[in-house]
Amino acid sequence: MNVRKFHLNTNRELQLNWLPQRPFLGLWFLSYALHVADAESFIIRTCGQTLSSTTPWALKKRLHLCFGQEAQHAISHEKIYKKAVHQLNWLKGYLFVHRWICYKALPLILNQKILLVVAASLEQMNTKISLWSLEQNSLSQATDSEMRNLMEWHFYEEVEHREVVFDLLERENIPKWQLIVGSSITALNFFFWTTMTAFFMAVTQKIELKGIGLGKLFTLLIQSSFKLCKKDYHPSHEDIRIIDIYYGSNYRNSSVTQPLCRTT
Ligand SMILES: [Fe+2]
Ligand SMILES: [Fe+2]
Repeated sequence: MNVRKFHLNTNRELQLNWLPQRPFLGLWFLSYALHVADAESFIIRTCGQTLSSTTPWALKKRLHLCFGQEAQHAISHEKIYKKAVHQLNWLKGYLFVHRWICYKALPLILNQKILLVVAASLEQMNTKISLWSLEQNSLSQATDSEMRNLMEWHFYEEVEHREVVFDLLERENIPKWQLIVGSSITALNFFFWTTMTAFFMAVTQKIELKGIGLGKLFTLLIQSSFKLCKKDYHPSHEDIRIIDIYYGSNYRNSSVTQPLCRTT
């Protein structure tokens, strides 16, 4: 796992219709980038609070690399957020409400164990979105190379996170009902906000609502989130070699990301 920094040109305007063949999918990915910055900070916070003196050193080391990657993602996504709210004035208040409900109010009413389930569930869905996009080669016709590079960088790194956070979750012996509550809240909340933001962007910018397959995506996200509730499930059992076949060499040779530290 490597921690890399993404070089984002902050002077360029965001191109909202950056996947012209599948315009609504492009907006959905943009919306995902806007929402995921808060999720990344939440994952770092929640997993960090769960670490203790009894957490094995090897797991702590993997988690710290995961935190390093998430922190770099959050920095880049925050820059996308600033560009987006500069171009679409209504987004600022809207995303403030999202941030307040999901990451201020909800953590006040959920206990620490359910919050850890939420973090693990977010990572499950991040991986699923990455693999789903990769399997369809959905970014191949992007007209904004910066957005494409950003999403590819993020997708590639996300795939390793769910296993690390799951290993932390597994040590907590969380009751099944808490796994179900945490997974349900996360899947519904995440899909609702990401899709609604994309929908409002499409309506206000008069961008066509085509090219996503929302039903299929919703089903995949629900299924991936609920895998946490299955007995004997472990993310390492799933085959993710596809990410190496398609993105591995591009990512490693990429000139848009710079290694900050590296381990194997
Ligand atoms: Fe991330
Ligand atoms: Fe992640």
